Amino acid sequence: MKALLITHDNQLQAEIAAQGAARMPPVTLVAVRSRLRDALERVLPENPALVIVDASGLAGDEAELLLRLAKLYPGATFMLLTRDQQQDLLIRAMRAGVREVLQLPLVHSAFHDAINRIADAANAGKLCDGKVLAFISCKGGSGATFLSTNFAYALASLADKKVILIDLHGQFGDATLYVSDQKPAMTLSDVCGQIARIDGAFLDSCLVHVTPGFGILAAADDPAQAVELKPEQMDVILRVARQHYDYVVLDVGRQIDAISLRALDNADAIYPVLQLALPDLRDGRRLLDIFRSLGYAIENTRLIVNRYEKGGRLRLQDVQASLGAEVMHTVPNDYVNVTDSVNQGVPVLQLSRASPVARSLSELVELVTARRVPEAKGLLTRLFGRAEAEQ
Ligand SMILES: Nc1ncnc2c1ncn2[C@@H]1O[C@H](COP(=O)(O)OP(=O)(O)OP(=O)(O)O)[C@@H](O)[C@H]1O
Ligand SMILES: [Mg+2]
Repeated sequence: MKALLITHDNQLQAEIAAQGAARMPPVTLVAVRSRLRDALERVLPENPALVIVDASGLAGDEAELLLRLAKLYPGATFMLLTRDQQQDLLIRAMRAGVREVLQLPLVHSAFHDAINRIADAANAGKLCDGKVLAFISCKGGSGATFLSTNFAYALASLADKKVILIDLHGQFGDATLYVSDQKPAMTLSDVCGQIARIDGAFLDSCLVHVTPGFGILAAADDPAQAVELKPEQMDVILRVARQHYDYVVLDVGRQIDAISLRALDNADAIYPVLQLALPDLRDGRRLLDIFRSLGYAIENTRLIVNRYEKGGRLRLQDVQASLGAEVMHTVPNDYVNVTDSVNQGVPVLQLSRASPVARSLSELVELVTARRVPEAKGLLTRLFGRAEAEQ
């Protein structure tokens, strides 16, 4: 954080410089001015994030200068250091938008607390409000892992979104292998094991980065470790993931357990993946019954029919009628392209962009992102009849 310090007290300057430098990331004094008037006359070329004003000995009329300085650096947070109760000055300072007032002599812990508050406020503006989208296969092998990994890749590369995929397969998690040849250094259970450390940077460092905008948190591949995962840890991981990614895609697998349930509880939308076959329909119905009994809103459950071929005995209407949920999308059966992609561990969109399955994934990206129309655009689209519910 770049800071401008206004003080004529050399000792205070050294103290703040040392305390600031010891922080991670540091608070760097880019300039020091001895008086407010001096700061107004010698304007910095770049806006500082923080302006620290030593107000001890500040005359009453100088408070107006504070207001002018605040206008000069509108993006900066102001911190005032006062030696005695300067009531009148404090009121004027607050009018000038000073956010933090600290007593002198400087109490270091109070200084760091104030910097933490300022950093948190700055970060809060930058945090994402990511959506959690859960893919779950109605029956083993329906294609949830292929679709979730390739959809997440498409979302990052076509819609330019920041995407994280979390592989929740309790055992035999293999999501990374579908789109990457890198071996994961860290897994979901490693993150849970160090949950106290978690923040955006730590989470990102645990991912297999497929592209700069898309990373995968691999499943716990050691079943003994998987036992240690706790549902509360899932809440924390998803909260942090939402703050740092536009989309959090979950490959839930097939098993319903305490961890996957907690993940589903957190999901904004659930995409059960099934194929047009009776066993899939049967298992799909069971799954949706569970969702209903858990009180999940049916409109947030959107079916994806995978390996779809027109003209079969079972039709999409049958699926909707039998499961009581909307079929949001169909993905064509595209054996050659999908098998090539899965065998090579290269996203199908990268390997064969014009293939039917790649085109279908692009459409899915459009469908999902179109549902997140910002308010202003929402009105226009509503007027033209294309409005869709916010996810
Ligand atoms: N649209 C498709 N066209 C052709 N083949 C497909 C398609 N989707 C998936 N497959 C094939 O189906 C296989 C199983 O898919 P996948 O591993 O994604 O299923 P899953 O639902 O994750 O299974 P599990 O329940 O074991 O986790 C893949 O290896 C892939 O070859
Ligand atoms: Mg799978």
